[in-house]
Formats: sequence, C-alpha cells, structure tokens
Amino acid sequence: MPAPEAEPLPVLEALHSTPARRYLSPEPIPDEVIWAILDAAVRGPTGGNVQGWGWVVVTDPAVKQQVAGWYLEGWNRAYGSRRDEILAAPPGPDGLSRPSFLAAEHLAHHIAEAPVWIFPVLRHAAAARSPRLGSSIYGAVQQLILAARAHGVGTTLTTLYSGHEDEVRELLGLPEDALTMGLLPLGYPARGRWAQPKRRPVEEVVHWDQWGATRPRP
Ligand SMILES: Cc1cc2nc3c(=O)[nH]c(=O)nc-3n(C[C@H](O)[C@H](O)[C@H](O)COP(=O)(O)O)c2cc1C
Repeated sequence: MPAPEAEPLPVLEALHSTPARRYLSPEPIPDEVIWAILDAAVRGPTGGNVQGWGWVVVTDPAVKQQVAGWYLEGWNRAYGSRRDEILAAPPGPDGLSRPSFLAAEHLAHHIAEAPVWIFPVLRHAAAARSPRLGSSIYGAVQQLILAARAHGVGTTLTTLYSGHEDEVRELLGLPEDALTMGLLPLGYPARGRWAQPKRRPVEEVVHWDQWGATRPRP
C-alpha cells in the first residue's frame, strides 16, 4: 500500500518528468515514506530473482559528514578542477548543461544536508568482473527514483564518493564481498521543477535490426 503522501501519477508521465534533483531541502522525510519508496524499489528485477542486495538508509549526520568530504574530493577531481572550461563550453546535446553543472556543484557542497541517504548495496560484487554486474540492481534503483518522485521526493544517483569505497564499506559495516552501487541523497526539492530530462533525440539512438540503421519517427 502506498504511504498517504503518494501522488497518483501515470507511469509514462513519471518517466518523462523525473530529472536529477540536486537542490534538496533538509526538511525531514517521514519514515513511512522511506519505507514505501524502498518497498517499490525492491520490486525491481535481479538475475534469477536472487535479490543479492541490501539498502542502507543513512540519517546519521556524522556518517554523512564523513562521506560528504570524500564526495567533494571526487567532485573536485572529476569536475571542480575543470569548472571554467566546462562552464565556457557551448551547450550541446549531451554532457552536463550549465544549469546541471551548477546543480551538481551545489550538491557536491551540500549533499550532507539531504535528510536521508540510501546506498544500494550488492553482495558478491566487490571482486566481480562481469560488465553486466549493475543490471541486477540499477533497475531497482530507477524504481526507487520514480517512487520517490511519486512522493514528491527528489534524488539523483551519485557515485563521486566511490574513490573511498573501502572506507565507506568499513563505515557502514558492510560485508567484505559487498559493493556500494551508488548513493542516493533524498530530499524534498528546494529549487527547480519536475521537467522532461533533455536527451539526444530518440531517432538518433535507435537502430533497427542493424547498428546504424536509424529511421525517422513517423
Ligand atoms: C552511473 C551514474 C553515476 C552518476 N554519478 C553522479 C554523481 O556522482 N553526482 C551527480 O550529481 N550526478 C551523478 N549522476 C547523475 C547524472 O549526472 C544524471 O543522470 C545526468 O546528468 C542526467 O540528468 P537529468 O536526468 O537531470 O537530465 C550519475 C548518473 C549515473 C547513471
């Protein structure tokens, strides 16, 4: 049963109106909403329905502060150090737009303020070599993002903390074989709106029978 705050929202409408939300209010999210979001997430698929996952909910400010420092370090290395160059680049059909860059920069400095964090964790993944490893959790992660949206809660899949995976594993008390597959900071949006994510046109990226055989969309 959905928690009372859930907005009735057609699936296709949700799919077309759920961008990354990175300006998040510190307003608390009720536990029953978190439960409802996670109950929707775990309906997602895993190979053989093995469900070798765990979902670590973090609200402890001390844990968040520690990881936030690692996240900011990752941000500075990957993007912050190229700030001027990225902001000067002409807008294109892919890559981070200027508003997205500024939002991601904001999140990098304020991620600890998001009231609830969720780490999707996959067992037996730390030493795995399959390039398809993530397929047994990212479907569920997207369900989490869409369920959150139905409850008016924004989030973004993030990974910039992951240069410190071993320290995060220890901090969260994860089993040795487990790997965090992301960090989703959740919060009620403080800025921005639910709008269609910008993408390259579907006709450019769909191939019919053979790679390269694109078609105009009728
Ligand atoms: C594997 C993966 C890692 C990501 N890592 C981060 C991250 O560390 N920080 C962040 O702000 N966004 C992160 N994102 C979010 C992407 O930047 C976002 O999905 C993309 O810019 C599209 O955003 P939009 O849906 O709002 O258009 C990540 C997304 C994916 C799929």
